[in-house]
Amino acid sequence: MTSAATPQLVDRFGRTVNYLRISITDRCDFRCVYCMAEDMVFLPRAQILTLEEIHTLAQAFTELGVGKIRITGGEPLVRKGALELLQNLGRLDGLNELVLTTNGSQLVNMAEALKAAGVKRINVSLDTLDADKFKAITRTGDLQQVVNGIKTAAAVGFERIKINAVILKGRNHQEVGDLVAFAVENGVDISFIEEMPLGVVAQHDRSDAYYSSDRIKADLAREFTLMPSTANTGGPSKYFNVVGTQSRVGFISPHSANFCSACNRVRLTVEGRLLLCLGNEHSVDLKQVLRSHPGDMQALKQAIIEAMLVKPEKHEFNIHEQPVILRYMNMTGG
Ligand code: GTP
Ligand code: 5AD
Ligand code: SF4
Repeated sequence: MTSAATPQLVDRFGRTVNYLRISITDRCDFRCVYCMAEDMVFLPRAQILTLEEIHTLAQAFTELGVGKIRITGGEPLVRKGALELLQNLGRLDGLNELVLTTNGSQLVNMAEALKAAGVKRINVSLDTLDADKFKAITRTGDLQQVVNGIKTAAAVGFERIKINAVILKGRNHQEVGDLVAFAVENGVDISFIEEMPLGVVAQHDRSDAYYSSDRIKADLAREFTLMPSTANTGGPSKYFNVVGTQSRVGFISPHSANFCSACNRVRLTVEGRLLLCLGNEHSVDLKQVLRSHPGDMQALKQAIIEAMLVKPEKHEFNIHEQPVILRYMNMTGG
């Protein structure tokens, strides 16, 4: 890997885009209640990018100065060929950081190969340590499988593994201390996330379930000392060191502490739609550009540069109203 190309992606607000999140499948072996409806219809194969197309798009972005790519889903590791794709992306010139967000269900078997493919860091979703609650939140998942996956990832040498926990009042807010204790025991970091209203979910009212980062901080202060950290992973998490440990606690607070002014990222959906913001529908159809100009890297790069002009200033999330964004989280991987 060589160092990133000169950044060429700058939006109307002067923000440089150097981080691309690619959702490589909308499918998942879990059905988390905040992410999906129970009876989801997934995209037909003809509508999704091939692995070769994903690679070409990733190359165009790296040539435009994107140095960090995060692979997401759905659950990225359920897509056939995911590992080969990661191996090929790991060899892209200019890509400094190839990272992955996963639900952890496949890590026991895949962690070692992911490390060999050049994946630098792994973020794993884990909202509860109670097996029954885990089943209720994910609808289909098995807690032990994910816990074993996290331990395997640590054992094969991944550093700065991060747990992501979406906190819902009345469902798992009582567990924030236990989750931090688990992170500390396993030498990993953890981010607490305020739920975002993407797609219509049936099981809970998002307004009632809102539990702010400040409330979590207050709860944690009873058991831990948190010191503000300057750590910046390039994502929206604001980190604190857990004093006396190697672990960090992060807070992703789209509602209580807007981070849009520092936004450095765009998202590619598995349909080839470049989403300029998680909380808006502004997008550009890169699949169409790719398929109508086969082999023309310049046309693709020009479309990506122009897409920056429609990147919105900030998200428009309002948990007290019906969601304006009808796209579910599994379409974009967060
Ligand atoms: P690193 O900082 O690289 O460790 O990762 P990350 O926190 O950016 O990525 P991850 O996939 O772990 O995402 C954690 C949460 O942050 C998810 O719930 C995402 O939806 C949320 N998130 C990431 N980027 C944005 C963003 O631009 N806007 C909003 N509103 N949420 C985001
Ligand atoms: N709000 C906030 N975070 C969400 N995630 C999935 N759906 C939502 C939502 N509606 C999280 C997952 C995963 C990350 C990529 O996004 O828990 O950790
Ligand atoms: Fe799957 Fe992640 Fe959505 Fe859960 S949050 S259903 S693990 S894509």
